[in-house]
Parts: sequence; structure tokens; C-alpha cells
Amino acid sequence: MLNEEMKTLIRNHPAGMVATVNKDGAPVVSPKATFVIIDDQTLAFGNLRSPGTLANLRGNSAVEVCFIDVVTRKAVRVTGTGTNLPKSKADADLVEAFEKPWGIYIDHMASFVRIEVSKAEMIISPGYDLGFSEEELVDQNMTKLEGLYRS
Ligand SMILES: Cc1cc2nc3c(=O)[nH]c(=O)nc-3n(C[C@H](O)[C@H](O)[C@H](O)COP(=O)(O)O)c2cc1C
Repeated sequence: MLNEEMKTLIRNHPAGMVATVNKDGAPVVSPKATFVIIDDQTLAFGNLRSPGTLANLRGNSAVEVCFIDVVTRKAVRVTGTGTNLPKSKADADLVEAFEKPWGIYIDHMASFVRIEVSKAEMIISPGYDLGFSEEELVDQNMTKLEGLYRS
């Protein structure tokens, strides 16, 4: 399901845009940056301050998450179902997955949202269709980012 290329992108860019469906059937997208990979079928993020996403998942467990590498212009879109697990009900593997990357945040996580992945796909920028190589896109986008944050 999640292949090595997808897992590398998610590990390097763990801020996912999480789409859920509200009670009126409207889509809602919310950023969550504490994603961890549990296994090839399972992702999770920590609930630090996510009342809307949790309410939506209680009514409809459908979820999509998009992770973007803005430098190489590649993304992973994950489709699945989300379940909120209070810390007291989370198994040791789940807690352990958060410990190294999100150590000081764990005390502030009221629960973990586990996502069972039913589909995952790589999405690459139309820049590649225009003939740009990954190296060229990295150069272009690093120059933009340097200009924004380091000039
Ligand atoms: C870059 C970024 C990363 C975030 N990461 C998380 C996260 O990992 N967990 C969380 O609960 N909230 C996170 N938040 C906060 C929620 O997205 C924010 O409180 C939001 O307004 C409420 O989420 P909701 O739509 O799920 O209620 C993040 C916000 C930003 C801007």
C-alpha cells in the first residue's frame, strides 16, 4: 500500500493536509504535522488541538491526507478511515511510534488519530510533464525558499 517512495516523502514531510467530511456533507481540510508511519497500511497523528476533525470522524470516518514535498514538487495522497484513540486505549507500538519524533509533544496529545489506509498514490507536478528534471525543480524551489526565508 504505502511503498518506500511514499514513506520517505511522509517521513521527510510529516505535515499532512487532512480532509474530513462535516455533518452537512461539506469537505473540511485541516493541517496536522505530527504524522508517524505505523506500518504500510497505517498512519497516525497526535491530537493536540483538533476538535473539528475529531467531530467529523465520529460522524463519518472517511479521510484523505495529502503530504507535499514543495521542493521536489511531489505529493502522496492517502485515502482511508480515521479513528480517534484515547491514549489509555493506544497500544504500546502506537505510543512508541510517537516517542522519538514527537517526544516533548506527547504529553500535550490527548489522543492519537489512527488512519487505516485503503489507497495511496504518488502525485507529481505538471512541471515534470513540461520536461523539468527533479534536480532543476529542486534548484528552482530552493532558490524561491531561500529568497523567502534567508534573504
Ligand atoms: C502547520 C500546522 C500543524 C498542525 N499540526 C497539528 C497536529 O499535528 N495535531 C493537532 O491536533 N493539531 C495540529 N494543528 C492545529 C490544528 O490544525 C488547528 O488547531 C485547527 O484550527 C483545528 O483543527 P480542526 O479543524 O481539526 O478542528 C496544526 C496546525 C498547523 C498550522
